Amino acid sequence: MHKNVAHYGDAGFSIYLRKAFIKAMGYTDQALDRPIVGIIDTGSDYNACHRNVPDLIEAAKRGVMLAGGIPMAFPVISLQESFSHPTSMYLRNLMALDVEEMIRAQPMDAVILLGGCDKTVPALLMGAASANVPAILLVTGPMSAGSWRGEKIGACTDCRRFWGRHRAGELSREEITEVNDELAPTIGTCGVMGTASTMALAAETLGIMLPDGACTPAVFAERRRLAERTGERAVQIAAEGLTPDKIMTPAAFRNAFRVVLAAGGSTNAIIHLTAIAGRLGIEVDLDRVDEIGREIPVLVDLKPTGQHYMEDLHRAGGLTPLLRQLSPLLELDCLTITGKSLGENVRAARPDWPQTVVRPLENPIHAGGGLAILKGNIAPRGAVIKKAAANAALCRHRGRAVVFENLADLADRIDSVDLDVGPDDILVLRNAGPKGGPGMPEAGYIPIPKKLAQQGVKDMVRISDARMSGTAFGTIVLHITPEAAEGGPLALVENGDVISLDVNARRLELEVDAVELERRRSAARKATEPVQRGYAFLHFHYVTQADRGCDLAFAIPPYTSRM
Ligand code: FES
Ligand code: MG
Repeated sequence: MHKNVAHYGDAGFSIYLRKAFIKAMGYTDQALDRPIVGIIDTGSDYNACHRNVPDLIEAAKRGVMLAGGIPMAFPVISLQESFSHPTSMYLRNLMALDVEEMIRAQPMDAVILLGGCDKTVPALLMGAASANVPAILLVTGPMSAGSWRGEKIGACTDCRRFWGRHRAGELSREEITEVNDELAPTIGTCGVMGTASTMALAAETLGIMLPDGACTPAVFAERRRLAERTGERAVQIAAEGLTPDKIMTPAAFRNAFRVVLAAGGSTNAIIHLTAIAGRLGIEVDLDRVDEIGREIPVLVDLKPTGQHYMEDLHRAGGLTPLLRQLSPLLELDCLTITGKSLGENVRAARPDWPQTVVRPLENPIHAGGGLAILKGNIAPRGAVIKKAAANAALCRHRGRAVVFENLADLADRIDSVDLDVGPDDILVLRNAGPKGGPGMPEAGYIPIPKKLAQQGVKDMVRISDARMSGTAFGTIVLHITPEAAEGGPLALVENGDVISLDVNARRLELEVDAVELERRRSAARKATEPVQRGYAFLHFHYVTQADRGCDLAFAIPPYTSRM
């Protein structure tokens, strides 16, 4: 059995005692005298994204045993987007602590990180990076697409589109219920380029997951074969001592950002990759992210920015054709979990075949990057816009601010007939950041006020300190840092102020002079600290801003390198 165990008395007695307990489950000495591979079980009855976890554990265990190891599955927190109050982001760091400590607490020579939903992959990688035991990721895989009256649909880009049509009176209650049955027609993660898909592609690019691991659908036999191969490889990385810090290097993160951008990926990936890198002492510089953004075209034609679904990307060859197209822009010598470099993996993969999901470099969907980092007096430490999902006509826009104080205020007034709002105004939401939300809800997709929606208005400039679901679209500025609840200038915006957005110039400005802003700042009453206990206390006092990945400050080691 694994030597690295806490001691009860002498080392020999310590192992003797543990063996006695593990043998209660019927293990023989022969079974126990092998490399131990922990398998993290993130399934629960609340989690449809992880509903295949039991099957994948079974297949991974088979792989571990075929390779001569002994598998040990163990649970950690299970997070799913729909059932994680107040937000799954708020709980991501709790899960990362859980993952880190349970990897450390229990004897294991390697660990399989198994999960797929938006916050699960980041939490697994954050915890594993900190524990730094040889680790390999296996995602649960994307769900299949559904269809409604002949039209292909899927969670959750189409959720919003159809709900918008229902709000505008175009779809009846019966019709919207039919749509509801088809949005998530199988288990697995959201089938568009949302955060889960984005993080899966990012993780495969980082090299912490086997090639082809990102896109294989959740319900396919091939996903179980991947699990078996992951189990086999886990035993080998234990022997090789292939720890996460050897794989997740600054160059690997640069590659991951390139792929996220080329995939038209979720804005949330910026925060998660920053958090994962931070755990390894790698500081992600947002200006560098913007630079990468400018040079990387969007090549993947997937919803919400394009037309296809994850199952189509799988049929087009998965991540491999994208890596091939991006090859001239990637750092191909990064070591991956196969023991080979990213470039070697790509060269060894099946040849590409004609397909329409991944465009060639010469014929991109968007020439510039899918994401841009904005700065200005209202966002001194940055804000993000998903250019690929924005309306080009609104990317340079001046408008009158219509301010919502928080989520409750937004819910109360957005559909009011009395709301003083026109199509050229800029909707402002604050106190929805990491602290103010709390947990930075995906509220940045502020709905179009009902009276404007009924007039046919489909998009407006919307700005906030919140996040946005990777499956949403619109001219939406997110992650304004520092957030209002931390005293950021977003807190000082008043109704009727003029805000100007210029995405090409990377500017977001509040057209109010510095003297007036200072007057407002000194007049502002400091928010009283809410009474906190338990995890809320930990979160409130230690959560960092978006530019530090919204991780807990004490979980981030001193930065030793920069991406
Ligand atoms: Fe889990 Fe979308 S809710 S991936
Ligand atoms: Mg999501």
